[in-house]
Amino acid sequence: MKDLLSSIKPAVRQVQAYTLKHFEARVKVNQNENPFDMPETIKRAVANSMSGRAWSRYPAFVPAELGARLARFANWKSDGILVGNGSNELIEAVLMVTVEPGRRVAIPQPTFTLYKMLTTILGGDSDEVCLTPELAFDVPRLVEAANHADVTILCSPNNPTGCNLNLNALREILKAATGMVVVDEAYHEFSRQSAVPLLEEFEHLVVLRTFSKAMAMAGLRVGYLLGHPLVVEQIAKAKLPYNLNIFSMTAAEAAVEHFALLQPQIELLIEERERLLGELQRTPGVTVYPSQANFIAFKTESPAAKVFDALYAGGVLVRDISRYPMLENFLRVSVGAPQENDQFLESLRKFLASRN
Ligand SMILES: Cc1ncc(COP(=O)(O)O)c(C=O)c1O
Repeated sequence: MKDLLSSIKPAVRQVQAYTLKHFEARVKVNQNENPFDMPETIKRAVANSMSGRAWSRYPAFVPAELGARLARFANWKSDGILVGNGSNELIEAVLMVTVEPGRRVAIPQPTFTLYKMLTTILGGDSDEVCLTPELAFDVPRLVEAANHADVTILCSPNNPTGCNLNLNALREILKAATGMVVVDEAYHEFSRQSAVPLLEEFEHLVVLRTFSKAMAMAGLRVGYLLGHPLVVEQIAKAKLPYNLNIFSMTAAEAAVEHFALLQPQIELLIEERERLLGELQRTPGVTVYPSQANFIAFKTESPAAKVFDALYAGGVLVRDISRYPMLENFLRVSVGAPQENDQFLESLRKFLASRN
């Protein structure tokens, strides 16, 4: 053997791994999770159902019951729905069936890291379209890029900035696009907007959703994809058999069935986001950007690592996003429970005061 890593594709060796350092903190607002957790009644129903099931048996090959419930929940046809082990798996499946050397993927920047990373691993070319200086989507440039791309990926609301792409702008992009347009709606519940109503009109639109954020199930790994049944049939070829375990499948069915229990949590998080945005706007030394998600991107005049350390010392764990393009000095805070948000604000203000 010449070189230990010679079998690894050069494109893979060049890619920076997607990782997250582990930190423990009293106030964990670094991963855009639902701070309230799944309501106890749903947890208990799922646990009861699990103890009556044979763990030794495979799940159904096709998760028909979950598919049917999701079809009613999202108002789309069940043969146009694919369930994944987190939406990450579905991002991977979509790119696996579309990207190869010579293919172009239009991606706004900064955005969720995985799109570009997987595109590179699969040998495709990323056509990166920067957000505007105000950190909004640059719609004319996206229209132009979609017109030359095999795939366009739009994260709306966008992680990590929180900006939203309105449906008129999305329509413009869909009309100009020459290939598939993927809209990652991981945070759509917090924007009260969805691209799903456009699926009937635009057959090249694919929508991704997750149970990891508003649906309070990040630990169980469930996501789903909605698209034209013929397209979904092709994407399904790249997902692994039995990707969803019976526990996660049952929990997702219950979460959809009892969504009314999650709704007040979502409403409260939207209220808290608006309160947090207002408080940050009124805080001297902080620049903050509008967000339609359950997180807020902000910057101070200090290096992000310093702010991160000071907040962490105060028991508050946020995300340092300063390595993304355009985001020097930026951090991202997830909207937590009211007391957690207060604690974040207090720690940040204490840090800012110590700088004067
Ligand atoms: C935009 C976006 N898409 C997808 C994901 C992955 O979600 P999942 O937990 O469903 O894999 C995340 C997680 O942070 C995200 O921010």
